[in-house]
Amino acid sequence: MSNWEELRKECMQCKKCALWETRTNVVFGVGRQDAEVLFIGEGPGENEDLQGEPFVGRGGKLLDDMLRIIGLDRKENIYIANIVKCRPPQNRDPLNTEQEACMDWLRAQYRLIRPKVVVCLGRIAAKALIKDDFKITQEHGRWFDKDGVKFTAIYHPAALLRDPGKRPETFVDLKEIKKMIEETCKRTYTEGE
Ligand code: URA
Repeated sequence: MSNWEELRKECMQCKKCALWETRTNVVFGVGRQDAEVLFIGEGPGENEDLQGEPFVGRGGKLLDDMLRIIGLDRKENIYIANIVKCRPPQNRDPLNTEQEACMDWLRAQYRLIRPKVVVCLGRIAAKALIKDDFKITQEHGRWFDKDGVKFTAIYHPAALLRDPGKRPETFVDLKEIKKMIEETCKRTYTEGE
């Protein structure tokens, strides 16, 4: 069995924090295990909990549209995961203790995927992966180098649904992400339809 399958199997049985008690499914992630580009959200919502896949609700549809603009597709050329793999009740922010308990799974995924570009979706992922005092309104679209891997953050799709006024800035960020991918990644990423 591959390391990836073992990791998934172990993760599916996780009881490292109390979220296991209320989950329907562990949302491990979706995409290519050898992706050069990794997207990280916050945690599963209701639809994700029910279906076992990240970003499958309204926000997910918007995310897929955003990805298409820059030639990306969740199944074809990226990997999508979350900071926490089980749904926090009532979609509250994941607690620090829950994030810490879950982080080993993401670290293990990161080590196996070995991405070149990491895009944090929203404040929670940016704080957990880039820096604790990350300010999404001021620092979205900025690049951070971590051991040669390029990290950035954009607004979370749910924030873009709540406030469409943030979409033009996100469009600029997406174009910069496309540019960074073209400069940094070996695989050819083509423009979506
Ligand atoms: N929001 C997230 O951050 N992740 C999901 O998977 C769904 C909604």
